[in-house]
Amino acid sequence: MLAPIATTVAEVREAVAAARRAGKSVGFVPTMGALHEGHASLVRAAAATSQFVVVSVFVNPTQFGPNEDFAKYPRTLESDQKLCSESGAHLVFAPTAAEMYPERSVTFVEVKELDAELDGPARPGHFRGVCTVVLKLFNIVLPDVSHFGAKDAQQARIIRQMVRDLNVPVVVRVEPTVREADGLAMSSRNRYLSPAERALAPAIYRALQNAQARAAAGEVDVARLESALAAELAAIPGARVDYARVLDASTLQPLARLDREVLVAVAVFIGTTRLIDNIVIGERGIRNAVS
Ligand code: PAF
Repeated sequence: MLAPIATTVAEVREAVAAARRAGKSVGFVPTMGALHEGHASLVRAAAATSQFVVVSVFVNPTQFGPNEDFAKYPRTLESDQKLCSESGAHLVFAPTAAEMYPERSVTFVEVKELDAELDGPARPGHFRGVCTVVLKLFNIVLPDVSHFGAKDAQQARIIRQMVRDLNVPVVVRVEPTVREADGLAMSSRNRYLSPAERALAPAIYRALQNAQARAAAGEVDVARLESALAAELAAIPGARVDYARVLDASTLQPLARLDREVLVAVAVFIGTTRLIDNIVIGERGIRNAVS
């Protein structure tokens, strides 16, 4: 059976209140749609944790810059509803932009410092848009637990901080990145890749693995690790490296030596498609999560 689609805040509140009256716990997976197996794994994790699972499908305009892909971002609500239902969701929330941002909405949420590197400077205003919509969605759905993907490591770290700093009563779980068989991290943007670009894209994850291997072989100099990683990514035909960084995994600040857990994060344009990926290198070796 297909999980019903709610389009208004009132409908979601009503459905969640009914689930609560029935004694159910509530899990939540925020998405922008164009769902793939990575999202399915988040919904399955939510269904394994909570008794009533809500998935939002909303291409959030406030997190896109003026020259980004908001207009062409894939919108596939029918297949999204099917994937959500098959993965264990009970309700899909697919609001309009007017429902989420009524006229004269002038309040935004900003998490400082954690946006100083990576996608912060690369996408000005992005995390302000993400935090604002995620807090709004939390306030609409009122979940016990919300699930995010480790591929968006900086986003997950920032959401955790927002929840902590603003005393939001939601447990944030970060689930491992789901990869294609050849290592490419699943992303809604992978569908923009031409067949030739798709064949090149797994080199991004291979470069991350090679950085990990260098660290495992004893390299502790972060500048050398970063430049080897950037050079390897730049050698992918048609690629343009946006960033290739090794940062303190907790503060997301630069560091000189590998003396603590680090986030190795990259953003690379393959043709016109911007892909991000990351790994975490800790004392116990590689881990694909930021939690
Ligand atoms: O990760 C995403 O898909 C989006 O940034 C999110 C969390 C759904 C907010 O729009």
